[in-house]
Amino acid sequence: MPSDKPAAARKDAHLDLALDPGTRSQGENGFDRISFTHCALPEMRLEAVDLTTEFLGYRLSAPLMIGAMTGGTARAEQINQALALAAQQQSIAFAVGSQRAGLEAGQTARQLRSLAPHIPIIGNLGGVQLAQSGGLDLAKAAIDDLQADAIAIHLNPLQEAVQPEGETDWTGVKQAIAGLVKSAAVPVLVKEVGAGINATLAVELFEMGVTAVDVAGFGGTNWARIEAARRSHDSAMFAPFLDWGMPTIEVLQQVCEACPGQVVIASGGVRHGLDAAKAIWLGASMVSAAGPMLANLGATDAITKIYQPLETTDGAGVIFDRCAGSGGIPPGTGAAGRYADHALITPPLHDLITQLELLTAIAAPARQQRHSARFWQCRQSAKSAAAVRA
Ligand SMILES: Cc1cc2nc3c(=O)[nH]c(=O)nc-3n(C[C@H](O)[C@H](O)[C@H](O)COP(=O)(O)O)c2cc1C
Repeated sequence: MPSDKPAAARKDAHLDLALDPGTRSQGENGFDRISFTHCALPEMRLEAVDLTTEFLGYRLSAPLMIGAMTGGTARAEQINQALALAAQQQSIAFAVGSQRAGLEAGQTARQLRSLAPHIPIIGNLGGVQLAQSGGLDLAKAAIDDLQADAIAIHLNPLQEAVQPEGETDWTGVKQAIAGLVKSAAVPVLVKEVGAGINATLAVELFEMGVTAVDVAGFGGTNWARIEAARRSHDSAMFAPFLDWGMPTIEVLQQVCEACPGQVVIASGGVRHGLDAAKAIWLGASMVSAAGPMLANLGATDAITKIYQPLETTDGAGVIFDRCAGSGGIPPGTGAAGRYADHALITPPLHDLITQLELLTAIAAPARQQRHSARFWQCRQSAKSAAAVRA
């Protein structure tokens, strides 16, 4: 099938606009409303903090995921490869963006599996596209192509409504998800893209057999703003919707309370390890960040620069070995300088994990006065979530 040039141009425009600070949500995601009690006497070794977790059958270094972003264009594939390598190196999960355009253009993303063999890779397709004729086959092709460990179905009605080429027939999506859950060989995750999944819908999705819900709330990447920026001549009518959505912390708290024991993923404006810790304390099993990871990859030409040397070496391990442990190679000349570019994604991930460790040791949950070493044990507790509101 010929490649869909407008779709490719749209995806590349999304990447540029997502990096533009002007398209970020202007309202709050709510993380700053929670504060932890400082524990002045942790009475433990910092190295004793254990963030490791199981997710989709893999042991991860921390409950973190690089959120679904992109795929289907040459630039998107370079980004995905850099992200996959970073996730593999950090032992965290990695989700790709919608595979629809790539698969329809006859492209494959199967190289990602060989770059990241030891972490969960999560495929992606839109709910609207899943409900269209051939959607189920497309979802199965997406899973097969990546040898994915799970597939995420994204719900993005606001984005589709604002997007000039948006697909706005949302009928049949629930039924299509239920059909996929029954027939897919891997777990099905359902996510929003920045406006949030509410508790009622989350309950319904879990009843349908969905394995995990990523609330993807408001307060980070903002698709109404991104799409409005693409249609500058008639964007005024969307102005009231530019900050539409449910703040991440609110939906997270509601979904965790309504769905005890279920796998809830927190995302939407997670900025650092402290936000991640708050999300886990509220009951999330995993925390995902998308836009911030993209921002830390740097400019496209930097990615091209860094990817080329990768192709000519016998593997990413070489590059990461060179960058690991020393805080990265200082920018310089020659090969070392280029490899240092590649490490751009690594320090933020590393920082996120370090911040989580630090928080675990020195913070006690707000108004709970628990011993810091038990911080992670209370993460699934509905009681602790209720304490936030008290
Ligand atoms: C450039 C970009 C492209 C995205 N494309 C997809 C996509 O194809 N499928 C999807 O499920 N989510 C997509 N998302 C949404 C993210 O997965 C995430 O839900 C959202 O950005 C909120 O997280 P954040 O605030 O950490 O960015 C994309 C995000 C970005 C920044």
